[in-house]
Amino acid sequence: MAGRGIATAFAYETGGPALTMDKLIICGGKPLRGRVRISGAKNAALAVLCASVMAGDKVVLENVPDISDVRDMIDIIRHVGSEVTWLSESSIQINPPPRLIADPPCHLVKKLRASNLFLGPLLSRFGFAKISLPGGCNIGVRPMDLHFKGLACMGVNISMEGGYAVGRAPSRLKGARIYLDFPSVGATENLMMAACLAVGQTVLENAAKEPEIVDLANFLNCLGAKVRGAGTDIIKIDGVPELKGCLRYSVIPDRIEAGTFLVAAAATRGSLVLENIIPPHVEPICAKLREAGVEIVENGDTLQVRADGPLQPLDIKTMPYPGFPTDMQSQMMALLSTVEGVSMIIENIFENRFQIADELKRMGVRIKVEGRMAVIEGVPELYGTQVKATDLRAGAALVVAGLMAQGRTGISNAHFIDRGYHRLEEKLQSLGVEVYRSH
Ligand code: EPZ
Repeated sequence: MAGRGIATAFAYETGGPALTMDKLIICGGKPLRGRVRISGAKNAALAVLCASVMAGDKVVLENVPDISDVRDMIDIIRHVGSEVTWLSESSIQINPPPRLIADPPCHLVKKLRASNLFLGPLLSRFGFAKISLPGGCNIGVRPMDLHFKGLACMGVNISMEGGYAVGRAPSRLKGARIYLDFPSVGATENLMMAACLAVGQTVLENAAKEPEIVDLANFLNCLGAKVRGAGTDIIKIDGVPELKGCLRYSVIPDRIEAGTFLVAAAATRGSLVLENIIPPHVEPICAKLREAGVEIVENGDTLQVRADGPLQPLDIKTMPYPGFPTDMQSQMMALLSTVEGVSMIIENIFENRFQIADELKRMGVRIKVEGRMAVIEGVPELYGTQVKATDLRAGAALVVAGLMAQGRTGISNAHFIDRGYHRLEEKLQSLGVEVYRSH
């Protein structure tokens, strides 16, 4: 399909999706079969890229996913003064800024919620940070009160100045004991980074325990920081005077990309081998899929997943790790839509993460949403039609639904999917799927 190839090549040349080809066409109804290699974790890479501005010398990162969110984040760290070079499709070299050249650019910060993770590193290293408030997004308001409260405990004056959050630290940040009202991933990451160069010890209580938190802590310790307890709900950070470089750090694999392929295999009653997996990271997802009757076998850093015949309906509640991840909720909704019986999903993390239901209904899904609860009544099959992605994981759910559906599904706003999935078309085509980009 020359058109698609040129478009895809053009997209990678320019470092972002060629928005003129912003529709994904999927011819569904066939089981996925084959092997797929999972890329590096978006949410680990984004945090590690922010942390890299604290390094005192060169940093080389491996297993970095070449996705648009990462390219946007690289643009931001270049803007604040870092030199970044792609050494290969998945490794980059970063020379951190000797001093803060400029604030993160507003237009990029608004695009990327994760840019709020610059607060901790910039305040810790330079004593000043100005980020435009990343704004809400389709899944919720996304407040930052926990970030600000923790930074204030460390001696930062935070003020809101015309849509910007401005942090000033009259002297080096000071260690503090901070209790997080909610185990916020971003707040845990920001405060962990802020504490690395603070004077004294910081204790984060009720901290988030996601694998991406552990990956960030491991990277910070590679730079010479002293972070202990990441992965538990109490993290202790002993401040050090400065950080050094790190000549090789490999980002963990993406558990949500892995989960998305597990769900796609189950939804199409296919059989896949997933490579580059850390099985404990995907255990919350595998446990629910096994409960539905999906066969998943671990073998070192690969998972074999197979489903044939009818699956069982499920009740799912999204929770902080190690509970069922909210980032897999939309994809599971698509899978459960053709499972006979009644399934229920309760979304406990974000207040508005059922937007995808309206698009799925256009494909024949029978679903009722009431507040944070969605009730899905299984139907025999879905049918392809034109649908619209409203955010990254909603887009992933439409891909799963398109793979399941009879006929052709056109997913517009495919740039949302490009934010978090590296070369998705190529990976699906290698699994026997007819999928391509279109105007
Ligand atoms: C991270 O977002 C991820 N993003 C999200 O993934 C993920 O869904 C989320 O964690 C939960 O696991 C990145 O890592 C870049 P939170 P984050 O702070 O840090 C409330 C994806 O698709 N809250 O744990 O923004 C908040 O409103 C994205 O890859 C406050 O009330 O999530 C939400 O209800 C989507 N005050 C809940 O906590 C605060 O100060 C969880 O938010 C901060 C958060």
